[in-house]
Amino acid sequence: MTSGAPERGFGIVGTGVIAAMHAAAIATLPCARLAAVTDVADGAAAAFAAARGCAAEPGLDQLLARPDVDVVCVCVPSGLHAEVGVRAARAGKHLVVEKPIDVTLAAADRLIEAARAAGVALTVISQHRFDPGLIELKRLLGDGALGRLVLAEASTKWYRTQAYYDSAAWRGTWAMDGGSLMNQGIHYVDLLRWCMGPVTEVTAVCVTQAHQVEVEDTALAIVRFASGAVGTILSSTAAYPGFPQRLEITGTDGTVIVEDGRIVRRAFGAQATAGVPGDDAGPDAAAVGAGAVGAGADPAAIEVASHAAQIADLLAAVEEGRAPAVDGQAGRDALEIVRAVYESARTSAPVRLTGVPES
Ligand SMILES: NC(=O)c1ccc[n+]([C@@H]2O[C@H](COP(=O)([O-])OP(=O)(O)OC[C@H]3O[C@@H](n4cnc5c(N)ncnc54)[C@H](O)[C@@H]3O)[C@@H](O)[C@H]2O)c1
Repeated sequence: MTSGAPERGFGIVGTGVIAAMHAAAIATLPCARLAAVTDVADGAAAAFAAARGCAAEPGLDQLLARPDVDVVCVCVPSGLHAEVGVRAARAGKHLVVEKPIDVTLAAADRLIEAARAAGVALTVISQHRFDPGLIELKRLLGDGALGRLVLAEASTKWYRTQAYYDSAAWRGTWAMDGGSLMNQGIHYVDLLRWCMGPVTEVTAVCVTQAHQVEVEDTALAIVRFASGAVGTILSSTAAYPGFPQRLEITGTDGTVIVEDGRIVRRAFGAQATAGVPGDDAGPDAAAVGAGAVGAGADPAAIEVASHAAQIADLLAAVEEGRAPAVDGQAGRDALEIVRAVYESARTSAPVRLTGVPES
């Protein structure tokens, strides 16, 4: 962050599971302070605030009226992100919106337009872009170390119990949540899009295998990229006991494999350049264990550092007058792929994405 940056006050809307991560991330940032929180559930904001020494406001209007709130973290159910975010933007607050940006493209567009019209910064959480392995992978891609990209795979084989879906009325609903791909898989969908560029077409199958929910708990898709590369997306919450999220990127000159944000394998061919190893297990391979790990099995088991890095980027973007690293359009791009997967599964036909140049 820019040195000497002013302290920014934060408000959190929705004090559930992910709000605790936002509060912890804000607490690690020298120029950020949690000022107030609010929640519609009786007593939830008060309990959250008491544990963190901030104010609890009775409603969104009161939180938005506070002059010491410069940035609002939108941590409500996914289908309410735009509704809350638009109100916060109109109140002149910068926005940290949890993923997905919302569950429909129309809602995403309303939020992006509201932020633009109000002149406030908007970042949509995709914290894994700030994981060490993704930073390194993007550097390698930028250096052309993999050659021309040909193939990519994004895999989220996680496990969620029925009790997880039953823990809140919004979970597992089309209107407020979406299925495994919209909620869990979207993280690596965003990374896939970020590394590989625009998607032109998806062909998908979605099924509900192991839960009593209206949404899919398992989604599979074949993807065509504008570059001519192809790929696959897999997302499930029915894969007991849960496995690391995985991204594999293959180019004409090599392959990099990321698991849970760490490079576990990188192999470069004859054209490997100085400083790039020919083939190794990846600097962080030992850090990724076998079997159920992290968020693969536990929704709350995610690390604070990457959320903190993304929120720090939002503050730096405000200071520097630039767009955040993960802006509203990036959130929309990931959502567009998810929506295309759902549409392809519904119609049993390939779906072309709009706004992408023909390859
Ligand atoms: N980035 C990640 O890794 C990650 C992880 C978990 C959840 N999330 C996202 O965070 C969001 C919330 O998920 P969660 O697991 O924390 O849900 P949750 O159910 O634990 O918490 C949501 C909270 O919002 C409150 N709420 C509902 N409507 C509200 C409103 N209109 N105004 C104020 N408060 C309201 C609820 O009472 C609840 O306390 C979802 O969009 C989810 O996709 C992201």
